[in-house]
Amino acid sequence: MSTLEIRDLHVAVGDKEILRGVNLTVSAGETHAIMGPNGSGKSTLAYAIAGHPKYTITSGAVLLDGEDMLAMSVDERARAGLFLAMQYPVEVPGVSVSNFLRSAVTAVRGEAPKLREFAKDLKNGMDALSIDPAFAQRNTNEGFSGGEKKRHEILQLELLKPKIAVLDETDSGLDVDALRVVSEGINRFRDTGDTGVLLITHYTRILRYVKPDFVHVFAGGRIVEEGGPELADKLEDEGYESYVKASA
Ligand SMILES: Nc1ncnc2c1ncn2[C@@H]1O[C@H](COP(=O)(O)OP(=O)(O)OP(=O)(O)O)[C@@H](O)[C@H]1O
Ligand SMILES: [Mg+2]
Repeated sequence: MSTLEIRDLHVAVGDKEILRGVNLTVSAGETHAIMGPNGSGKSTLAYAIAGHPKYTITSGAVLLDGEDMLAMSVDERARAGLFLAMQYPVEVPGVSVSNFLRSAVTAVRGEAPKLREFAKDLKNGMDALSIDPAFAQRNTNEGFSGGEKKRHEILQLELLKPKIAVLDETDSGLDVDALRVVSEGINRFRDTGDTGVLLITHYTRILRYVKPDFVHVFAGGRIVEEGGPELADKLEDEGYESYVKASA
């Protein structure tokens, strides 16, 4: 059973402090939703955990199963079992989806998967997410529609089987069918009980499919309110204004 612990995390970009003391614990089998207004620092939290060099940790700790994540390189964090689906997935020209995914699996496992086994896992993953088989030969994310990029993120999740998955707005830009397919992918994965999911989202729409155990409201670089799934409905009705004022 894995646990990600974020303790009093402070993060700056340049000399601007963005995260101002984030405390959050995510365990395997749990789904946590983070909701909050634009610019409140949600993606910053995701990048800081994943080890993006632009984000300077000024104080606090991030532990995965008691191990200091902040002392690890980006690769080491991925090998330790951390996965980040980015809000804006990057294009990798000249590298096919199939090669990209096989390299990612090799990097995370520390050895290359057998070709035949990998081809089978890839096909099953693509089928489950209703991804056209021709995508395996396309350049990674190049010219993908918004929804195609997001499905590709979930395909990575299925193949990499991380301990903790941070999904930054994986629901944005999805049509209703894609939202269902992507949500089913997340659920399949979460229901194994081996993975904790941290879902950053603006919309309660996805939370109807992927039921969160906990909802956290983010404002001004910290968590200002916590509750169960009912909190998401309250946010939809009332917005964030009262939280933004309180955090200023
Ligand atoms: N690399 C960066 N360079 C400069 N400023 C940054 C950088 N990353 C984040 N910021 C600033 O930090 C603040 C928080 O940004 P962040 O992307 O974390 O917000 P967010 O909560 O994910 O917003 P959204 O809901 O719009 O995705 C913003 O004011 C943003 O401009
Ligand atoms: Mg964001």
